Amino acid sequence: MRSSAGDASDMPDPTDSVDVLKRKFAAKGLSASDLVVLNGAHTIGTTACFFIEDRLYNFAADGDADPSINPEYLTELRSTCPKGGDVNTRLALDRGSEFQFDKEFLENMREGNVALQSDSSMYQDGSTRGYIDSYFGLLGGLLGPSFESDFADAIVKMGQVGVKTGSNGKIRTVCSAF
Ligand code: HEM
Repeated sequence: MRSSAGDASDMPDPTDSVDVLKRKFAAKGLSASDLVVLNGAHTIGTTACFFIEDRLYNFAADGDADPSINPEYLTELRSTCPKGGDVNTRLALDRGSEFQFDKEFLENMREGNVALQSDSSMYQDGSTRGYIDSYFGLLGGLLGPSFESDFADAIVKMGQVGVKTGSNGKIRTVCSAF
């Protein structure tokens, strides 16, 4: 058994383009819609300022911010994560709704109110935008697709990625130790 930093290159990075994210998910058998729906997990939790600094102060290396950020939200983000400030400061991934599992995060994606670049680019990119919009159609949550139930299906699918069975691999009895 081994633990290797190199394996982390398979992991999605918040500065990855949507194309790269789609490729990384596809390599694990997960579709573009799985990507968008699973990314909806950002309806919960926080990020460190570390991951958004460049987006606030050095986007496209011209000292400016990512233009896809809603101007009002940009002021808020810059105040929480001042230039040269503590990069470990944490802020909600889902503005105003970080403790609720709901569609608010998807709405925030549509309005330019999300902190991570990857969360924003999934709405900017025409190949993934439709999945987000589909949860806000005329039929709404009644007859239209349900984010909550699609998330449940996708997380079960993700739980099956790379599972070793039989004599392939070992089950750790103490998770933190070899
Ligand atoms: C699509 C690619 C994804 C990228 C680029 C990404 C990136 C990130 C980053 C940078 C953070 C902040 C980490 C920190 O500051 O500690 C984060 C937090 C989080 N991510 Fe993702 N993520 C992705 C997909 C997912 C998926 C598929 C799930 C689960 C199904 C997920 C669940 C979470 C949760 C719950 C948090 C909050 C953690 C906390 O509050 O400590 N993310 N993600």
